[in-house]
Amino acid sequence: MMPGKYFFDDTRRFIHAMLSNQIAKVSPTLYSRLTKKTGRGFSAESTQQAADYFQTCFNDYFVILGIPENEVENFLSGKQLLEYGPGDIPGVALLMIAHGAERVTCVDRFELVTMSQKNEGILLELLGRLEGEARARASHCFLKPGQPGSGFNPDRIRYLIKPSGLSKLNGEIDFIFSRAVLEHVNDLDATFDDMAQALQPNGIVLHQVDLRSHGLHRRNPLDFLTWPTVLWSWMHSNKGAPNRWRVNTYRDTLHRIGFETVLMQPTQLIDKSIINEVRPSLARPFKSLSDVDLSWLGFWLLCRKTNYENTIQ
Ligand SMILES: C[S@@+](CC[C@H](N)C(=O)[O-])C[C@H]1O[C@@H](n2cnc3c(N)ncnc32)[C@H](O)[C@@H]1O
Repeated sequence: MMPGKYFFDDTRRFIHAMLSNQIAKVSPTLYSRLTKKTGRGFSAESTQQAADYFQTCFNDYFVILGIPENEVENFLSGKQLLEYGPGDIPGVALLMIAHGAERVTCVDRFELVTMSQKNEGILLELLGRLEGEARARASHCFLKPGQPGSGFNPDRIRYLIKPSGLSKLNGEIDFIFSRAVLEHVNDLDATFDDMAQALQPNGIVLHQVDLRSHGLHRRNPLDFLTWPTVLWSWMHSNKGAPNRWRVNTYRDTLHRIGFETVLMQPTQLIDKSIINEVRPSLARPFKSLSDVDLSWLGFWLLCRKTNYENTIQ
């Protein structure tokens, strides 16, 4: 909260957010659907643009893993995958199956996946872009092969809705991934414990994390970090809004659970002048952070459960 001159504006925001948080408490899924929580933003998108988004996400994962296109199938072949927070369409899961994965389990806190006409069109577009074996495999993601409207075949894409957002799987997963999700989870420690529990020894984890305000800043891109923790919770706890944890918390969590960090790479950095402006008003959890940690507005995280051996297999 910015003290002094913005008191009335902040009070109005606080009351508005607290009331909408109560609506989200009564109907979290409805709230999430109405506010369109996907990683694809708020603007209108064509079927092709949405399909491009999933293709880009899929490609990005393998660029970060350092796996060339012609080795992706080798890597995925027979693997069990877990995706946190697929949003409203499990498009990346579909591509993972197309390119060799055995099964993708998608877990979400909110039931966002719907087979609307638009979403069916996007899945058909993704299918249509595939050829040969890959297309045949992707077709079997649906109860009636090639027909998204028939629903997902749980042997290929399993969709779990858990109010905790936790999969509760046990040692069966080879590769965990997510994009624009970890910054929304309500209990980051529990989510990493869930990953550790779900993974096989040597299993790998790849996340893209977006540490920006998600539209919840006012005058400075970091001023959403000025609300005291308790007020932030009253305003946003039921909405899947950003949990505000910065990169230091992820580092500490990885250290606690003993994952080996292979790569932690910023996707966007903010200017020091913006940090200097907001620093005097930061809420307690962020006050003692270094300029470097505060400057990270997003990052890639690649880690391994144990015994990292320099190459991803
Ligand atoms: C911004 S969307 C990103 C969706 C998708 N990954 C994409 O790139 O379009 C955030 C997703 O995280 C989900 N989510 C929020 N809290 C979660 C939690 N605790 N566990 C798992 N998923 C969660 C939301 O329901 C939503 O599906």
